[in-house]
Amino acid sequence: MSIKLSNGKEIPIEMHKTRMVQKITLQPVERRLKAMEEAGYNTFQLKTKDVFLDMLTDSGVNAMSDNQFAAMMKVDDAYAGSMTFYDFADSVKEVLGYKHVMNVHQGRAAEHLIAKVFAKPGDVVPTNYHFTTTKVHIEVTGGATCLEIYADEALKTASTHPFKGNMDPQKLKNTIKKYGRSKIPFVRMEATTNLLGGQPFSMKNLKEIKAICVEHRIPLVLDGSLICENAYLINQREKGYENKTVAEIVKEMASLADIFYMSGRKNTCVRGGCIATNNKKYFGMISPWLPVYEGFYTYGGMSQREIAAMAVGMREMVDPDVAGCSVEQIKYFVNKLCEVGIPALTPPGGLACHLDAKKFVPQIPQSEYPAGALTAALYIVSGIRAMERGTISMERDKDGKEVYADLELSRIALPRRVYSVSHIEYAIDRIQWLYKHRDLIKGLKFVDEPPVLRFFIGKLEAIDNWGQDLAETFKKEMGDH
Ligand code: F0G
Repeated sequence: MSIKLSNGKEIPIEMHKTRMVQKITLQPVERRLKAMEEAGYNTFQLKTKDVFLDMLTDSGVNAMSDNQFAAMMKVDDAYAGSMTFYDFADSVKEVLGYKHVMNVHQGRAAEHLIAKVFAKPGDVVPTNYHFTTTKVHIEVTGGATCLEIYADEALKTASTHPFKGNMDPQKLKNTIKKYGRSKIPFVRMEATTNLLGGQPFSMKNLKEIKAICVEHRIPLVLDGSLICENAYLINQREKGYENKTVAEIVKEMASLADIFYMSGRKNTCVRGGCIATNNKKYFGMISPWLPVYEGFYTYGGMSQREIAAMAVGMREMVDPDVAGCSVEQIKYFVNKLCEVGIPALTPPGGLACHLDAKKFVPQIPQSEYPAGALTAALYIVSGIRAMERGTISMERDKDGKEVYADLELSRIALPRRVYSVSHIEYAIDRIQWLYKHRDLIKGLKFVDEPPVLRFFIGKLEAIDNWGQDLAETFKKEMGDH
């Protein structure tokens, strides 16, 4: 939660205490430069021994609770019929209200099964915004095309609009008219929209989209990987929801979806995922494929220990101190950057603090990957590992031409209950230093580019060796650290 100090300032206060720790090291700047070069200017390729604050993602790196660890000690390790799985199914019923659930090994496995079963070549899938793996499954596994039906405000990086993750209802109606219901296997809403900067949608919007889906008999699929953060922001920002609990809002959101899926690596555990529904027919269409690609019905590619932790995590994630812990840190982080004139994406969302690379390093054209360059530069000056969410995260088109991303973002994720306010203060300071020296940053070019999801393992180099100049300037002004 956020707490007001006697001087009127608010800070995100940690509503947990640390009882197990992991040592981290801050390498000197020469080593950070070397590590970045070895990693091909791709932060995914860094080894964690070279990383100080690992803010690459909030996936699989969150702190677990004492209750989750305790649950992992007492599990029913059966191949079939495990009672641990049935307890997980009960937690899904309690928290999300779904009668049918299957585990999968992670979120993209759910996307794979849904795309395989529902999408066909020639189909289109309207979404409030794609996620990288979702688009690949809809387009490569399903052969369909992903359509972005976001509201106009979504691409404004400096905004006060509370719900930039909304789908535009009129654009959805036009899309249905244009393609016809038979070409639309489902409409997909993502809570919160990852690539738009973790921006939430409102309940009002979800209801409007649901009504259009019902009218045209199109299933509504909800990617609930960050459903709690979206619900927490609905509670804070939407009229009529200020007195509802996160648990009530989550249940209401879930009740509007025909098919729900989530990556379990964010809110509920550090591994896994699930698909859930109240529709027996849809469940019956997907479930035969589960043992083919994931594993038997009562484990779906997960270990029972992880399923046990996920059941506890499912029940704990609707606690406002859990649902709100990164949201409050992100708000603090973003607001402080904005106060000193740094172009962070606003309003603060539910996933990370995002720097707007088009504004931070306007000298770099999109063909030279401004968000990738900014992310690499941030690592060199701070040891903070962020993630490129811009053109490098896009796929080339069928003719091999570059597809420029709508937004060029450097994403600094806040894993849940991992970092403290002093870590965030350090990040703010180093980002300020970098902003003052932003003219030193130039573009990147690929030296090794894989054909799909290139952001994971692609290797790049710094044009004119700018990393060296940046590291030397840092060393002169700040010393090793
Ligand atoms: N959907 C959303 C909204 C996600 O953010 C992710 C993963 C997935 C699906 C895929 O789930 O990783 O369990 O297979 N997001 C991670 C991230 C990778 O860093 O934002 P997964």
